[in-house]
Amino acid sequence: MRAAYADPPYLGCGAKHYGDRHDEAAAYDSPDAHRLLIERLCDEYDSWALSLHEPSLRTILTMCPDDVRVGAWIKPFASFKANVTRAWAWEPVIFRFARPRTREQDTWRDFVSEPITMRRGFPGAKPDKFCFWLFEGLNLTPEDEFHDLFPGSGAVGEAWQKWKNRMAPVQLELVGSNRWRNRPAEKG
Ligand SMILES: C[S@@+](CC[C@H](N)C(=O)[O-])C[C@H]1O[C@@H](n2cnc3c(N)ncnc32)[C@H](O)[C@@H]1O
Repeated sequence: MRAAYADPPYLGCGAKHYGDRHDEAAAYDSPDAHRLLIERLCDEYDSWALSLHEPSLRTILTMCPDDVRVGAWIKPFASFKANVTRAWAWEPVIFRFARPRTREQDTWRDFVSEPITMRRGFPGAKPDKFCFWLFEGLNLTPEDEFHDLFPGSGAVGEAWQKWKNRMAPVQLELVGSNRWRNRPAEKG
């Protein structure tokens, strides 16, 4: 299965938050860039997830196919500002699922609760727990092809590697006549 996670600059936040990091960040201040991104996700991937902020949910959801589902990243610690008296402490995540979950698997919840991370000072870096929730929601397996379309700090790609290692069956190798040890996971 081909799967992707898209974490673009949120609508209206391109130039403001990422103008100094990417020459074309301002494109994401227009709904057109988000429409094109959703078309690309639908054309190129079996299954995908897209992050956005709550103020853009009304606009972006109408650009998505009917079979998407909205999950929530709830942020017990979010950045509070003096002039914002009703905090935005959650973010929508739009999912397009492909692989059904079986009854033998744990029931996936459509929310995750995890504080924001200020990883390497990169705005919008996603915490591991958020990423694992995403992979489980999409019901990925370590053999799947997974693309992180907006890597930023690289946090999502690193979480994918951690998650794949965690999911891989433990490989033991015999050392000496009767002693076993974990075989180191192969890279890649
Ligand atoms: C929300 S951040 C991604 C954060 C990432 N998921 C993480 O965990 O660190 C959005 C990223 O998109 C990049 N970006 C901005 N404009 C872009 C464009 N037009 N095309 C591709 N990437 C862009 C930004 O520089 C930034 O790295």
